[in-house]
Amino acid sequence: MRTPASIESLSADDARAEHARLGAEIAAHDIAYHQNDAPTVSDAEYDALRRRFDALEKAFPDLARAASPARQVGAAPAQKFAKVRHVVPMLSLGNVFDEAEVEDFVERVRRFLGMPADAPLAFTAEPKIDGLSCSLRYEHGELVQAATRGDGFEGEDVTANVRTVGEIPHKLRGHAPAVLEVRGEIYMTHADFAALNERQAREGDKLFANPRNAAAGSLRQLDSAITAGRPLHFFAYAWGEVSNMPADTQHGMVEAFAKYGLPTNPRMKLCHGARDMIAVFNALGDDRARLGYDIDGVVYKVDDLALQARLGFVSRAPRWAVAHKFPAEQATTVLRDIEIQVGRTGALTPVAKLEPVTVGGVVVSNATLHNEDEIARKDIRVGDTVVVQRAGDVIPQIVRVIEERRPAHAPKYAFPHVCPACGSAAIREIDEKTGEADVVRRCTGGLVCPAQAVERLKHFCSRNALDIEGLGDKQIEFFYEKGLVKTPADIFTLEARDKASLTKIENYDGFGKVSTRNLFAAIEARRSVELNRFIFALGIRRIGETNARRLARHFGDFAALRATARAAAAPDSEARAEINNIGGVGDVVAEAVADFFAEPHNEEVLDRLLEQVTPTPMEAIATDSPVAGKTVVFTGALERMTREEAKARAERLGAKVAGSVSKKTDILVAGPGAGSKLAKAAEAGVRVMTEEEWLALIGA
Ligand code: IVH
Repeated sequence: MRTPASIESLSADDARAEHARLGAEIAAHDIAYHQNDAPTVSDAEYDALRRRFDALEKAFPDLARAASPARQVGAAPAQKFAKVRHVVPMLSLGNVFDEAEVEDFVERVRRFLGMPADAPLAFTAEPKIDGLSCSLRYEHGELVQAATRGDGFEGEDVTANVRTVGEIPHKLRGHAPAVLEVRGEIYMTHADFAALNERQAREGDKLFANPRNAAAGSLRQLDSAITAGRPLHFFAYAWGEVSNMPADTQHGMVEAFAKYGLPTNPRMKLCHGARDMIAVFNALGDDRARLGYDIDGVVYKVDDLALQARLGFVSRAPRWAVAHKFPAEQATTVLRDIEIQVGRTGALTPVAKLEPVTVGGVVVSNATLHNEDEIARKDIRVGDTVVVQRAGDVIPQIVRVIEERRPAHAPKYAFPHVCPACGSAAIREIDEKTGEADVVRRCTGGLVCPAQAVERLKHFCSRNALDIEGLGDKQIEFFYEKGLVKTPADIFTLEARDKASLTKIENYDGFGKVSTRNLFAAIEARRSVELNRFIFALGIRRIGETNARRLARHFGDFAALRATARAAAAPDSEARAEINNIGGVGDVVAEAVADFFAEPHNEEVLDRLLEQVTPTPMEAIATDSPVAGKTVVFTGALERMTREEAKARAERLGAKVAGSVSKKTDILVAGPGAGSKLAKAAEAGVRVMTEEEWLALIGA
């Protein structure tokens, strides 16, 4: 979507130079993607690079015969591993970046638990290892399965490869629980990384960008003999399913792991408050370069496991732990261009295209520019020399411009007012309440905008949505361009239409018989899909995975959601209030849901899709709980826990927590001082109980 010099206007030398530069850039992205599962660019950006690269080769056939690193990395081996479902999901961590945020974290934990500032509260502090997480399942002390994290719910079976990691015992020592899933980080030391890269260079193989890429690439080898030749290490720091807990504290668990013969990190410390924690952070920061392996911060965890259980999770991260990241690393480079990407909802996002530069061990060639105002505020111009910064897994950003190095006559950047994909006007909506313009400029093209259509399709097929294997961004763009797939339903009629057509998909470049057959099989396999994934896949504004789960849990089936959402068009309708009252949802989201279903085109797309796909009930959480599926309202003062904890715990047991009493309320838990809600419940015949009775009911 950027406009580089037209290929025809390039001299042979220019073309050669650009070909070499693009080749190196593409190869770096390939490594980040295939070995690391952590691409440094969006697929759209990557594809644009590839397209330009291919176009250069087409126009200058000599280049196609030259060696290029862009042709060296093969297809992602990831497709080939068996999937493993994590019974206990593998979660991620929230981040904090400074001392004040560490203090906030401790304060938040205390507040949630209703603990006074002087009550003792211990935390562990340990290095955050920069590797890849892995779950090892031991049954009766024997290693039976190893899996990568994947999307947190489903990972890849890497048992054969993990068995080659010398440090990981095949058999545990002592009396380990009958079922023990140990979780931790697989990593490579600096020394081993350097030696591996030397060997790779000697043998003419590709080099790894950093130890983490090398560890990931080594573990995710289809041939475990290759993994066996790569020196990998492991630190155990967490767990999944455990039949019989050997300890009741975080540090006790890690000590038990060590007793069973698992490697644990020697730098873990027990802390009694933010001051201790920050001291560990500073000490580890000082020793970082001498540890011999990469760490990117310190992880703090509440030590008492009973408190961890009470704290639970928000979305995908525990409330009881947080990662304190080391400060960002910076580098200087030149801003080559500003590319405008058009997202699924029409948002125009500026992306900085940089002269590739290494920042903290990773090659960066793109950085986020956030939005129009940000570019104006920092007065960022094409051609500028800029300072880029990268912190951990956060997308790189431009910190500032070095004005002294600005080329003469570089014009101020003018943000486009038309969509680069469809030419429709791109506007900044005015917020009705505040009268202020939205920070985001959006394409008004809606259905005519091909970029939005393609992004919606990509979202529909993405890993946490329908997850159709073999239907990646590139294939979707291809099918869209060919006019074969325009809306999600078309994916499911692809095979039938292909049978009837004279031009077969298998004959197109990059497909072939086997991959086409596999693709059709993968599509067939998704004709039924869990309701929450289905809702998420629709790409409704503001409905991410968490809200999709909330809606799925609340409504149970798609028809119920649809009926209510249709009836919710009017802001003051009962249906709107119902959505609004789903725990965690609220006004803005309820409005977005209603808007989506009020759009006739969306309804049409849905009708066609539902002819092809059946949403199935979401995997129930805690169906054996006495309150699963019940709608609960809390009112008045609670004495044994904070309101926030009560709500989180009820949700964990499968209950829905609402803010107000309605016909759908099953239970009202009323503490002292309960007022109008109690009266309303009595009137509606809702079951009312005290906090004690509620705790007895849920077995707490
Ligand atoms: S605890 C539920 N401890 O960081 C909490 N994670 O950003 C589970 N990581 O996916 C994570 N060192 O791969 C934990 N000492 C440590 C860690 C650690 C590295 C990784 C882990 C996780 C990621 C989250």
